[in-house]
Order: sequence, then structure tokens, then C-alpha cells
Amino acid sequence: MQASSFFRDGAVLLCDGVSLADVARAEGTPVYVYSAAAIERAYASLDAAFAGYPHRLHYALKANSTLAIARLLRRLGSGVDANSIGEIEIALRAGFVPDDIVFTGVGKRPDEIERAVVLGVHAINAESAGEIDRIAEHTRAHGVRARVALRINPDVDAGSHPYMTTGLSNSKFGVPVERALMLCREIARNEALQLAGLHVHIGSQILTVEPLKRAAEALVRVACELRNEGVQVEHVDMGGGLSIAYDGGAGMSTGEYAGALLSIVAPTGFKLLLEPGRVIVAPAGVLLTRVVDIKSDARGARLAVVDAGMTELLRPALYGAYHRIEPLLHRPGSEDRYEIVGPLCEAGDTFGEPRSMPPIEVGDVLAIRDAGGYGAVMASNYNRRPFAPEVLVEGGRWRTIRRRQTIDELLALEE
Ligand SMILES: Cc1ncc(COP(=O)(O)O)c(C=O)c1O
Repeated sequence: MQASSFFRDGAVLLCDGVSLADVARAEGTPVYVYSAAAIERAYASLDAAFAGYPHRLHYALKANSTLAIARLLRRLGSGVDANSIGEIEIALRAGFVPDDIVFTGVGKRPDEIERAVVLGVHAINAESAGEIDRIAEHTRAHGVRARVALRINPDVDAGSHPYMTTGLSNSKFGVPVERALMLCREIARNEALQLAGLHVHIGSQILTVEPLKRAAEALVRVACELRNEGVQVEHVDMGGGLSIAYDGGAGMSTGEYAGALLSIVAPTGFKLLLEPGRVIVAPAGVLLTRVVDIKSDARGARLAVVDAGMTELLRPALYGAYHRIEPLLHRPGSEDRYEIVGPLCEAGDTFGEPRSMPPIEVGDVLAIRDAGGYGAVMASNYNRRPFAPEVLVEGGRWRTIRRRQTIDELLALEE
């Protein structure tokens, strides 16, 4: 596991040497803080794991698409996986060129297909026979040729949370593997299209390599069969899914992950595309939140009410996800158990099971760990709560990369 950028110096928690308490004081809370160094290390570690084999990482913008983060990934040499026209535009504004972009999405609107076709993105990952036809229509209208990769659904259980499992036969993603050959032949025959490759993404936060290997086998089988028929396939795109250890343990290493995929893909020689999201950014971020109340419920359980909730970090409410939580300042004294809950009018607005931690007081700031991925991007304005700011620590300094939304901005679109 890579070294963390978040470590204690005595009683205080730092991010790459920067005091998180200073950031909380200056920016207020809740606030997201990311470490550029941690993102760089995660990217380099994954890229190095595939070194020596033709590959490209297309960072999944859905995990965190704040412009400064996207720009950082571009500087590192990444491509992107965009899941909407919004993510495509962000990629372009971050300096990516169309050939850096693969465009995924289970329900692409006509305007989104049109934009991707006109731009000439590296690949549109097509999700159905109907979508292939629609891409071809747009392509003909513009007299260009779109590069298309077919997303297959291999009916493999990723073993992650049901909401993060996308490769089962009854899930909405991709086309059944039995239809893949026929559809790829059609793409290859269609003068408006070019078969760029095959795509699979069976889910996120996948804990073991077995399902990833089975999905890779299914994809490679189709790709090899096509090649045997004389149909050219440039790349196989294995999507994302590599898990992180939210409990702070060892988790799956990039070496283990790469070894598993390469054992199947390398003998074929197909160029390998990957769409990692979580593993690049999640461990690189914390959400800082201030304790606004401490009380006991009727059973005597201690509750710490904090100023961040499901509006800032949806994962616990949506998936029952676990995030480590620790106070920035380690006060002396024996540990107590606190259930950490958000401020919203929703019983589900809680960070889960009670945690043992050093004594905390109203006004203390807590760090919710591993919040750099699927955190800020999933935020909402529910209860009319403005979006929290985001801060990037880089080269021993910190700067605001997205400021806090104001109430006026919250209302700017309304009559
Ligand atoms: C198509 C696609 N690619 C890549 C990813 C990124 O996955 P992860 O963050 O698990 O690496 C996702 C997220 O679920 C996705 O839907």
C-alpha cells in the first residue's frame, strides 16, 4: 500500500506537512482537502504496474472532476473516461484533447453523441444496438467516422455493493456477451464507424481479482474471435473497479491487479485501456467537518453532530459505506464511543456505526478519510446547503481550487 499523505505530527493531523486545522480555520467547514502528491503517487503506481505492456490509463472523471484535479491528471499523462457531456467539456477545459477521451454512459442523449462524434473522441463506448445506430446516424450527418468500442456485459458478479455492481446479466449496462460478436461485426462493416475496441466495467470497489479476471477472459475471448475472423480490434478496455482499503488496511495492490489482468490480456497483444477512478483520488482526500453538538440519546449512546452530512459525502447514506473518522487534534484522555451524524433532516444522514476516539468537544474538527473520490462530485444542495469548498495541497502549500458556494449562487438560476 502506498504511503499516506495524511499523518500525525504529535497531536495534530497534517496533509503533506500542511496543518489541516489551519485549512479548516481559513476556509471554514465542511471543506474537502486533497493531496496532489497522493494523486501523483497513486497514478504512478498504477501506471508502473502495467509498464512494459502497451496501455493507457483513462482516469474516470466521475470519481472527482474538479478542474484542478483533472488538470493534474493531464499533467501526469492520463487520458480520461467521461460519462456525460459535462465531463467531456470539463476534460477539454482541463486541456485534454479529444483523442484522450473515452465516452461511456448508459443513456447517452443525442446532443451528447453529436458532441462526441464531432469532436472525434478516442472511443465512444456503445451500450446497445440502438446506440450504435444512433452514433452512425450522427456520424453520417457530419461526414466523419466515429471510433466505437462495444461495452459487453459478461454476467460476472463483482462482489461489491449491489449499487456498484454493473456486470450482471440483469443490470442495465452493456450488451450480453452472446450478442457481442454479431454487433462488433456490424460496427466493423458500417462505413460510418470504426471498431476501436471492446469495453467492460463490472463494478467499483472490487475486493478480489477473480471477478476482474473472469470479465477480462470474456472480453478477450470476443476480441480474439473477431481477430481470427479478420476483424481488426485495436484495444480492450477493462474499465475501473480497483478497490481501496477504507479501513486503512492493505487492500489490493496495483501489482496484484495488474498481474491478474496482464495474465489474460498480455498473451493477446491487444492494447489495454483502463479507467481507474477511486484508487487514484479517494485516498488522496479528506473531508473536514466541525462538531456542532454532542449529546446522548435515550440509550445513553453518545452522538456527535457534525456540520457535514449526506449533502457533502453521500457514500455512507447511499451504500452504508464506512469511512475512518478522526479528530484533527488528539486531546488527552480515555477514548469514548461516538456515533457521528450529519445535520440533515434525514435519519439516514449518519456516518454509520459508533467510533472509538479520543475525547472530542463542540468546535473540534474531524477528518473523514478516503473522501477524495465519489465525495464532492456526489454533493447536493438538499436542505439548501451550499457546496463545500475544495482545497489542494501541493508543494507544501495549499490553495482553494473551488470556493464555497454562496446562497446567492445557490439561487442564481431561479426566478
Ligand atoms: C464505465 C466506468 N469506468 C470506470 C469507472 C471507475 O471505477 P472505479 O472508480 O471503481 O475505478 C466507473 C465507475 O463506476 C465506470 O462506471
